[in-house]
Amino acid sequence: VALLHNCQDLQGQRILITAAGTREAIDPVRYIGNRSSGKMGYALAEAAARRGAKVILVSGPTSLPTPPGVNITRIETAAQMQAAVLAEFDTVDIVIKAAAVADYRPELVAEQKIKKTGDTLTINLVKNPDILLELGQRKKQQILVGFAAETEDLIIHAREKLTKKNLDMIVANDITLPGAGFNIDTNIVKIIYKNGNVEELPQLSKQQVAEILIDKISKLLTKST
Ligand code: CTP
Ligand code: CA
Repeated sequence: VALLHNCQDLQGQRILITAAGTREAIDPVRYIGNRSSGKMGYALAEAAARRGAKVILVSGPTSLPTPPGVNITRIETAAQMQAAVLAEFDTVDIVIKAAAVADYRPELVAEQKIKKTGDTLTINLVKNPDILLELGQRKKQQILVGFAAETEDLIIHAREKLTKKNLDMIVANDITLPGAGFNIDTNIVKIIYKNGNVEELPQLSKQQVAEILIDKISKLLTKST
């Protein structure tokens, strides 16, 4: 069992964390969603707040309780997440993007419930803004941490995202492994840094993974100041 860190190593730091999945409306009753539970992002928010950070959590729909001391903004769509994140970005020291953002949304949202008149239904999708890419382009002193959930070539894909989005760290998980990924209480992650270093963690509870990630981010902070 990992130690619960009682130290206040994030005292005075402002951290923006995104969690859970976005939902993109099709009509008044349906949406496109994903399997993200929000557990990893909420565990990070809880750990960061306990260690003294001012935490701003931008969350997609989930039934998880808001961790103590955390300031929450609830959103549904990627566009709403983008607006909430950009509104805080200049004021924070660290951003952790644990949310699973829908890459596409329906081009048109039907005003009325779509009736099952045809034998097939085609919904045209358009690309959502890449929020983390935008943060990478705007970043000044902020530490940017991304997540990458992959089903193949984990390290290659995660490294590409780290570079393209101008991140300081990316947390990569192979969601095909039992014990990793969406909607379960454990995760198996690899941490990749800007300098190319990779650290592999064993299967741990999402609380333990969160505690270790906050340790690593806290170390990056002391390096950059
Ligand atoms: N992300 C984001 N905005 C998007 C899509 C992703 O901010 N529109 C962020 C996620 O929160 C995550 C990181 O980018 O921290 C990587 O997300 P991922 O879905 O793994 O990568 P994509 O760049 O969307 O590429 P693909 O889905 O094609 O693998
Ligand atoms: Ca994606």
